[in-house]
Amino acid sequence: MLKNKTIVLGVSGGIAAYKAADLASKLAQAGANVRVVMTWEATELVKPLTFQALTGNPVVTGMFEPAPLSAITHVSLADEADIVVIVPATANIIAKIAAGIADDILTCTVLATTAPIVLSPAMHNNMYVNPVTQENIARLKKRGFTIIPAVHGRLASGSIGYGRLPEITEIMGTIQQTLGKNGDLAGKRIVVTAGGTQEVIDPVRYIGNRSSGKMGYALAEAARDRGSAVTLITTPTALGIPAGMETVKVQSAIEMKDAVVKATAKTDALIMAAAVADYMPETASAQKIKKGAGGLTLELVKTPDILSEIKGKFLKIGFAAETQDLIANAQKKLTAKSLDMIVANDVSAKDSVFGSDNNKITIIKKDGKPQALPLMSKREAADKILDNVVKLLK
Ligand code: PMT
Repeated sequence: MLKNKTIVLGVSGGIAAYKAADLASKLAQAGANVRVVMTWEATELVKPLTFQALTGNPVVTGMFEPAPLSAITHVSLADEADIVVIVPATANIIAKIAAGIADDILTCTVLATTAPIVLSPAMHNNMYVNPVTQENIARLKKRGFTIIPAVHGRLASGSIGYGRLPEITEIMGTIQQTLGKNGDLAGKRIVVTAGGTQEVIDPVRYIGNRSSGKMGYALAEAARDRGSAVTLITTPTALGIPAGMETVKVQSAIEMKDAVVKATAKTDALIMAAAVADYMPETASAQKIKKGAGGLTLELVKTPDILSEIKGKFLKIGFAAETQDLIANAQKKLTAKSLDMIVANDVSAKDSVFGSDNNKITIIKKDGKPQALPLMSKREAADKILDNVVKLLK
C-alpha cells in the first residue's frame, strides 16, 4: 500500500516534531518515498539531517532549496506527492493554510498540490481548543482535508489536556486509509471479527483460545485501505486498535453474536476470522472458585453458532481452523453454515497460524475449486481474501 508512494511529510515547529522522525522512519521502512519539508521553526527543534538519514532523501527547508530544483521546488513536490501529511501541524500552520497564505515552502506546497492532505495537529491545550483554531480546523475539513484529532494527555508544558499527537500507528493508518479511499472496495461496508472469545468461569478465570487477533486485524486494515467502511468486532488482544474504523469490543461468544447482529444490519460482507468458543460454562460463578480437595467439574453448554444463525443479504465468509482433513472439513463447514466462501487454515502446522505474522490459506468459494496459496504474511493473505470478496460483490 505504501510501497513506492511519494509522501510529502511536512514538519512544522511544534515540540512533537521529534515524533515525526519516527513516522518518517516507519514510512520509509514500508517502502514509501518520503520527501520531508520543514518549516524554519521545525529546524530549530530537530535537525534536517535526522530526516535525511531516515528517508534517504534531501530535506527541503527553504523556498530555494535544494539548489538544483531552485524556485520550482514547491511545485515539483506538490506534483510528485501522492499525499501530503503535516505532522505536527501547529496552530500557526493550520491558520495559514486555512487562510490560503503561502509564505514558506510548506504552505506553498500545500497550496500547489492536488494530492490529498492529512493534518495531525499538536499544540498546547488552550491553543487547540481556542475557537479560532477549531474554526480553522472545521474550515479545512469542509475543504476536504483529513484532520487527525489531537488526543488528551500530558502535554510538553506538563499540563494535562487536548493537544497531544496521536500514536504514530494511528497516523500511519490514516495515511493508508486516505491513499486507498478510491480503492476497489470504495462505498462498501465490511464487518470483520477478530480474536478469541473468552467464556467466563468466575471473576478471575475464563475459557479462551490461542487466537491473537492478527488475522482479523489484517483483514480489517486491508479492507479499510481498499476504501471500505469497516466495523471491527474484537475480543481483548495485545494489538493496538486500528485507525479509521469503528471498533466494537466484546468478550464472549454471546457478546460477539449481539455485536455481529447489530453491525450487519447494514453491511455488504461479514468476515468471521474470530476463533469463537463452541462451549461456555453453563453458569459463571459470581465469586472466585476456591481450590477444594478433589477435582473440579465444569458444566459446559453450546455457544450460539454466529455464522449459522446470522440472517441477512450480505456475503458470509468464514474461516476453518483445522488440524486434520483441512479441505474436507472446511467444505463441510461452508455448506453447513451456508457460507459464500471459507478460508481454511491448518492450525496444526509447526509454525502455527496462531499468533504468527504469516498464514498459509486455502480459499474455497461456494461454487469454486479450492485455491491453495503459499505461506505469506497475514496482510498479504487478507488482500487475497479481499480480491475474492471484490469479485463476489460484483
Ligand atoms: O488470530 P490469529 O492468531 O491471527 O489466528 C488466526 C485464526 C487461526 C484464529 C483464524 O485464521 C481462524 O482460523 N479463525 C477461525 C477460527 C475458528 O473458530 O474456526 P472454526 O473452524 O472453529 O469455526 C468456523 C467458523 O465459524 C469461523 O469463521 C468461526 O468464526 C465461526 N464460528 C465458530 C463458532 C461459533 N460458535 N460461531 C461461529 O460463528
